Amino acid sequence: MRIAVIGSGGREHAIVEALASEKKHEIYAFPGNGGTAASAVNISVHGDSSDELLEAVLTQQCEMAIIGPEKPLVEGLADRLREKGLTVLGPGAGAARIEGSKVWAKKFMERHHIPTAGYKAFHAFEEALEYVRSGLSYPAVIKADGLAAGKGVVIVENAREAEQSLLDIMVEKQFGAAGDMVEIEEFLKGTETSYLVFCDGDNFLPMVTSKDYKKVYDGDRGLNTGGMGTFSPSPLVDEMLENIVQETIVRKAVEGFKEEGIPFTGVLYAGLMLTEEGPKVLEFNCRFGDPETQVILPRLKTPLSEVVQAVHEKKLKTFRLEWDPRPAVCIIAASSGYPVSYQKGKPVTGLDRVKQGIVYHAGTQKKEGKIYTSGGRVLGVTALGDSLEEARTTAYREIEKVTFEGIYYRKDIGLL
Ligand SMILES: Nc1ncnc2c1ncn2[C@@H]1O[C@H](COP(=O)(O)OP(=O)(O)O)[C@@H](O)[C@H]1O
Ligand SMILES: [Mg+2]
Repeated sequence: MRIAVIGSGGREHAIVEALASEKKHEIYAFPGNGGTAASAVNISVHGDSSDELLEAVLTQQCEMAIIGPEKPLVEGLADRLREKGLTVLGPGAGAARIEGSKVWAKKFMERHHIPTAGYKAFHAFEEALEYVRSGLSYPAVIKADGLAAGKGVVIVENAREAEQSLLDIMVEKQFGAAGDMVEIEEFLKGTETSYLVFCDGDNFLPMVTSKDYKKVYDGDRGLNTGGMGTFSPSPLVDEMLENIVQETIVRKAVEGFKEEGIPFTGVLYAGLMLTEEGPKVLEFNCRFGDPETQVILPRLKTPLSEVVQAVHEKKLKTFRLEWDPRPAVCIIAASSGYPVSYQKGKPVTGLDRVKQGIVYHAGTQKKEGKIYTSGGRVLGVTALGDSLEEARTTAYREIEKVTFEGIYYRKDIGLL
């Protein structure tokens, strides 16, 4: 089959490799990266608008599409590809609002009694300011409504910080139109975890659990990043907790989408805070996580294209996913200075020496047969092992073989 993979990160490289392991597809990456080029044909797209992507995918006559990033989903790329007869993994624009608008997501959770932090939403800066001045309890959380590439959430410690964030988001438009609305929410205490499921509009099938590391430095210090590593399974989510998450959160969401006439077909990702009162939703994403995908897909034994087909045909009720029982660890190598400022265009060497791990490229580019850095998170190395400890040891041994100027990775991924 001719399959399109939309996106250019480590997540998309992992999707490409999962499809390539089936050894029977022609895979096209739009636009892909230096790593996808080995197993797929990279198709350059000018910009990332859904118009451009639609045209490019149709030009390649793809029959199936897996959409990695949120932006094209929110813009309705899945609807438009489905209209053209493609088998698509990814929700339409209606259901993708769960990620595209944090205020819409909050209202959706309210309508369907899904546990989440208390909140108030504001269209106008003055009203938000008045609310802050009327007295909040701190810390509090301020979120820009729209897509802000993971940067639109601020945890504020006092009224001065709250006012400054509102000014940045709503007046200075730090995140553009994403800041036309904000919501101010209650700070939840607890441990964070994510829970991902495949969903066909009626039924869902959980993926194996995973844990990610968002902070740049060891011991969860420093700035938030796109993710510095992951491992799977997560010891935080036992069978009992999984049942609670499925019944009080995932099932209600899936039924809610269906009831509202916007059935969710794709990957639903619940970002959760495990609080003393039970799991509560921090946010929903409408796609695979990055770098969660880099430990989940290497454990998926069922051919990914068959899962996508089953989602499309609404067959998840009777479908079974088969997983490799071995734990997986993924370590992300970044360019030093990430997530603030960093250099690009550095040659990457040692990739061919990695034998027991899988290298997933993210910010890389292939030029004249050589790989160069082109982003902050450059690549990840995933290893499987008979135990978490073994997977971790292998992943670190393998990533040490890779070098580029300024390479940086956390040393504590997979340590509990
Ligand atoms: N209500 C909350 N209480 C405590 N921490 C929160 C809350 N909401 C968000 N956070 C923190 O902020 C991070 C980003 O928020 P999230 O809603 O996931 O938005 P995004 O991923 O779009 O930036 C979360 O991973 C979590 O660490
Ligand atoms: Mg998040």
